[in-house]
Amino acid sequence: MTRLVICVLLCVASSALGRHEKYEGHQLYRVSGLDEQIRALEASLDILSAKPAARSSSGNLEAVVRLSPEEKQQWLQYFDERNMLYTKIADNLADIFRAEEAQINATKRSGKSFVWNTYYRHDEINDYLDHLAAKNPDLVTVINAGLSYEGRQIKYVRISTTRFENTMKPVIVLDAMTHAREWVTTSVALYIIDQLVNQGQNSVLVNEIDWLIIPVVNPDGYEYSFDEDRLWRKTRSKAHEGADECPGVDVNRNFDHHFGTNEHSANPCSNTYEGLFVFSEPETRIVQSAVLSNIDRTALYISLHSFSSMFLYSWGNGTLPSNGLILHLVGVQMATVIDEIALDKADRYIVGNAANALYPTTGTSRDWARAAGVPLTYTLLLPGYEYQFEVPPKYIEQIVTETWPGIAVGAQYVRNNW
Ligand SMILES: *[C@@H]1O[C@H](CO)[C@@H](O)[C@H](O)[C@H]1NC(C)=O
Ligand SMILES: *[C@@H]1O[C@H](CO)[C@@H](O)[C@H](O)[C@H]1NC(C)=O
Repeated sequence: MTRLVICVLLCVASSALGRHEKYEGHQLYRVSGLDEQIRALEASLDILSAKPAARSSSGNLEAVVRLSPEEKQQWLQYFDERNMLYTKIADNLADIFRAEEAQINATKRSGKSFVWNTYYRHDEINDYLDHLAAKNPDLVTVINAGLSYEGRQIKYVRISTTRFENTMKPVIVLDAMTHAREWVTTSVALYIIDQLVNQGQNSVLVNEIDWLIIPVVNPDGYEYSFDEDRLWRKTRSKAHEGADECPGVDVNRNFDHHFGTNEHSANPCSNTYEGLFVFSEPETRIVQSAVLSNIDRTALYISLHSFSSMFLYSWGNGTLPSNGLILHLVGVQMATVIDEIALDKADRYIVGNAANALYPTTGTSRDWARAAGVPLTYTLLLPGYEYQFEVPPKYIEQIVTETWPGIAVGAQYVRNNW
């Protein structure tokens, strides 16, 4: 009873406050430390990303963490006591989110073509894909792959000059927006679709490869990140105990690969909660069936994430797969062309085994797809630029245009070696 009253009060208060006010005064800090020190933060802080630390820092990993005004003193003292170096990188997240929203509101929108200085809603994206298929019936097929937990249609596109019927061709599968707050991943997926369908100079890659692209794996989380909480990451499912307080599952921990062996992913309130059982999420199952649909000829799978500028390959436990050297080589080829056109202020790409370059993970789509038989599988962490997940819309164009040539190099490798 008391809880209900409190919830009613809080819920009314928070909806009256509007969607960004919960981040009023929140700041972002980059903090470096030893592996264990950074990982220990995960239980109590929102870790926005982690990556290998610069040489001058105080350990081997650095993370971007968000601190509310109330917790700031306590945590900065905690870092000081452990000799963990930190710098402030953003002052008030609510202001940053409002500026992003104003920019999105200010762009003229059309369901028929997209521009690369704004973000689009899920229904706009679905309409665009249907429009593209209607306009290019010999090249583009939209598959209604199934419904999300909250009932949104998850679509993917198949791009093929032979309707996926020529089984001699290799297949490339890309997905994006597994994690809701990583908005720029969908921009990259849509740009790649545009390059393949509308830009004639890529005809070799279109003629000789079949492409399967899922621009929004997690529409419930995506829409929630627009309407309620810009930093939402997981799905919105509520099948597990404790879901009232902590809904959602991390799709990229929900795949059938060493599932259930990572304590950090067992807690429903963790941002990396793996779910009750493998493939518990409809979103996970849709990626699974998309990858399995042409498994014998799928040569490359890339899951687009944000941010950190990294190509990560299997396995999530630090052991290398049998083709580890090839994975590294192709990853370096892709990263090199991206680095050549990245902005000077961008971090150079890191290519490496996921656990060695970053930290151990379980249940990822990358490892599951590799184990299912796809030879080349990567988690691609796109660059952050400034506020990291909240890639300011002015950088979208830079990121989509620099990433495509990298993907194209991966596709060339597939074409030459299939
Ligand atoms: C953006 O548009 C929405 C819907 O019209 C409106 O509620 C919101 O206040 C606008 N946000 C900004 C920052 O202008
Ligand atoms: C890591 O996972 C791979 C793939 O499942 C497995 O072959 C390997 O033995 C594991 N390594 C360790 C150290 O457990």
